[in-house]
Amino acid sequence: MNSRDSEALAGLLRDKGFILTDSPDSADVILFNTCSVRQHAEDKVWSEIGRIAKLSPLDFAYKTRKIKAGGTPRPTKKIVGLVGCMAQNYKDEIFKRCPNVDLVVGPNDLISIPLLIEAILRERSQVIAVGTMEREQDFYISNFRREKDHAYVVISEGCSNFCSYCVVPFVRGRLHSRPHQEILKEIKSTVNSGIKDITLLGQNVNAYLDTDHLPDKPSNYVNFIELIKKIDEVEGLKSFDFVTSHPKDTSQELFLAMRDCKKLKKQLHLPVQSGSDRILKLMNRGYTAKQYSELVKEYRKITNGRITTDIIVGFPTEAQGDFNQTLNLMKEIEFNSAYIFKYSPRPHTEAENLKDDVALKEKELRHKILLDLQKEISQNKKCTSIL
Ligand code: 5AD
Ligand code: SF4
Repeated sequence: MNSRDSEALAGLLRDKGFILTDSPDSADVILFNTCSVRQHAEDKVWSEIGRIAKLSPLDFAYKTRKIKAGGTPRPTKKIVGLVGCMAQNYKDEIFKRCPNVDLVVGPNDLISIPLLIEAILRERSQVIAVGTMEREQDFYISNFRREKDHAYVVISEGCSNFCSYCVVPFVRGRLHSRPHQEILKEIKSTVNSGIKDITLLGQNVNAYLDTDHLPDKPSNYVNFIELIKKIDEVEGLKSFDFVTSHPKDTSQELFLAMRDCKKLKKQLHLPVQSGSDRILKLMNRGYTAKQYSELVKEYRKITNGRITTDIIVGFPTEAQGDFNQTLNLMKEIEFNSAYIFKYSPRPHTEAENLKDDVALKEKELRHKILLDLQKEISQNKKCTSIL
């Protein structure tokens, strides 16, 4: 989701006349698009900002120089922006912590960045924009794409699930589904530009519901299953898939639609998070391990597709017995691949109030055990598919 946001933002800036560069040394403006999902991601940003600060000393603050008489003024200080989820999470605290940062912009305000950069040059002061509830659709208007043969298309933003460990609803806001006409328009223009393979993006794609255009006729609302059927019919599109699915909103009806959509890849990213019902309840996930495993059986029976997952180890109070249940579930299901994360407390979340009582060493051990197990499973699966 974040890399699609960066791409759309880069396109927006390019279309406004900015020149994109991969080299921080030559850049006048450096933007960090940040993720707050885990502590580790934030730590990396804080240290990188410190490094960039050295390229952007404060004593040159906001002087500008003309390139030529009448030319566009250029800053002698690099403008440093911290944008995305951390901006929403820490707001103006960022200016106190990093005085070299000029621009703080939340995920739903990214569209304003070109104007805000102009404001910084004009006012010679730091600027903040956070808290807008919904994105403007024009944010996705640019056709700038980093890959040649694959593109991401956002179908919904934010999330209303409130899993107890997760910061997303607080930094990205509640679930908001893009109008299906906008999504189809973006897919068609991407296909026309030569990209025929697409991944639909959302924090919980299965909760997609476009109510925008027919508010008085709920029977005409477009849900996720209807959306994928419409996308399957887009002329010229060769293949597509979607991430991420939530088990509580995933059903037999979806699997049947997946089977019937000819262009849809038979693969499902379905985070389970834990194999212990007690932990799943504390996580506020809304299903049991047994329900999850039944869902996977049904998915495989109907689509014969691939399945991948996310797992968190070391959630507060996770005992050896809970962990063993996760281990057993992984052995039983044999995922095609799995992302394993060590729990880290996140601000605003319900789980932040629980004691982070699994020692880091124990989290690391559990993390390694699951990684090793998954490696073995993935290798066996590869061998079986070759045979
Ligand atoms: N600590 C560790 N992992 C987390 N995830 C989300 N929040 C946290 C957290 N506080 C993981 C979940 C999610 C993935 C994107 O990140 O497994 O599915
Ligand atoms: Fe976070 Fe849960 Fe929403 Fe995923 S479904 S984004 S884990 S709150």
